[in-house]
Amino acid sequence: MTLKNDLIIRAALGEKVERTPVWLMRQAGRILPEYRAIRSKMGGFIELVKSPEFACEVSIQPVDILGVDAAIIFSDILVIPEAMGLSYKMVESKGPWFEKTIHNLSDIEALGIASEENYSYVLDAIKLTKKELNNRVPLIGFAGAPWTIFAYMVEGSGSKTFSQAKKFLYTQPELSHRLLQKITDSTINYLRSQINTGTDMIQLFDSWAGILSSAQYTEFALAYISKICDALKKSHPNTPITVFAKGAFFALKEMSDLNCDTIGLDWNMSIKHSRVDVGNNKTLQGNMDPCLLYSDNATIKKETEKMLFEFGPNRYIANLGHGLYPDIEKEKVIYFVETIKNYKHS
Ligand code: CP3
Repeated sequence: MTLKNDLIIRAALGEKVERTPVWLMRQAGRILPEYRAIRSKMGGFIELVKSPEFACEVSIQPVDILGVDAAIIFSDILVIPEAMGLSYKMVESKGPWFEKTIHNLSDIEALGIASEENYSYVLDAIKLTKKELNNRVPLIGFAGAPWTIFAYMVEGSGSKTFSQAKKFLYTQPELSHRLLQKITDSTINYLRSQINTGTDMIQLFDSWAGILSSAQYTEFALAYISKICDALKKSHPNTPITVFAKGAFFALKEMSDLNCDTIGLDWNMSIKHSRVDVGNNKTLQGNMDPCLLYSDNATIKKETEKMLFEFGPNRYIANLGHGLYPDIEKEKVIYFVETIKNYKHS
């Protein structure tokens, strides 16, 4: 079955598009009162992620309510640590918390390589969501990039500095590589399963890219992202891949060599300089500061049109520079999406 709206896929592959396509990181969930209404009736976040019916409903809500050009599967990057044997809790208004963390070789050896039986609930959610979407728009699958997953597995929770995770890189580089390779193997299995089940495109989130030095980023992060892109392109050459490395402006030139189609930019990154670094053979995605959506409509319109003009009409997918914040009003998000969809390049 062909997609009725395939603008995002075409933009990712560098084909001409009639208008700029748009989706928003963290569109599935908290900003929608419709999500909060169902969420308050159900249990914790992890139970929600494990309920295919709920995940399906929350994935589709932004397509209906916000008018975005893609759905993203409602899940979390922490599915992978759990599937490898490190379970976590999502602590209300605090974030993820792991009871067990990684300290030494035996901890790493105790971890499994994730495979279908460990994350079958995500695949069930994808199946159901594809069915309910009925090919209206593409469904985006995702995973955390290995370094970001490593950071949570070693640190055990969110952190401003991730100093425990960085300490591990400095003091135990060989063990770090062993752990990163295990995460990479798990992620390749996971993303291949997602594509086989129906996701139309993939995004890797490297949310903690920006806390590494440029040399560390090359050695401990990009090397593994590169393995994932190569493996996916080998098995699924037609599925577009986006790599979003938050804060990694210093790595954009190197990222242009990745076997991926799109590079996500955060709002710190200059559009002009990023295009020079990445070159013309990849699509760019981003990069509005989500905080713009706290301002009035006139400001939203002015700044959004400036962004659209700077990126230009081709090889571009509009998005934010990071996820939506939970207290952003839904009307402002709709206005942002509308502004993008109505914009005409002269
Ligand atoms: O983008 C989407 O709308 C799809 C769903 C999605 C979620 N998490 C749902 C979620 C996606 C793509 C993610 C990715 C994710 N998860 C990342 C990478 C992107 C980023 O934001 O940098 C990271 C680092 C995580 C880990 C995570 N999950 C944290 C740190 C937290 C708690 C803090 C927070 O932002 O709420 C979560 C919880 C989470 N993941 C929620 C949602 C909707 C909130 C849970 C709730 O309803 O209380």
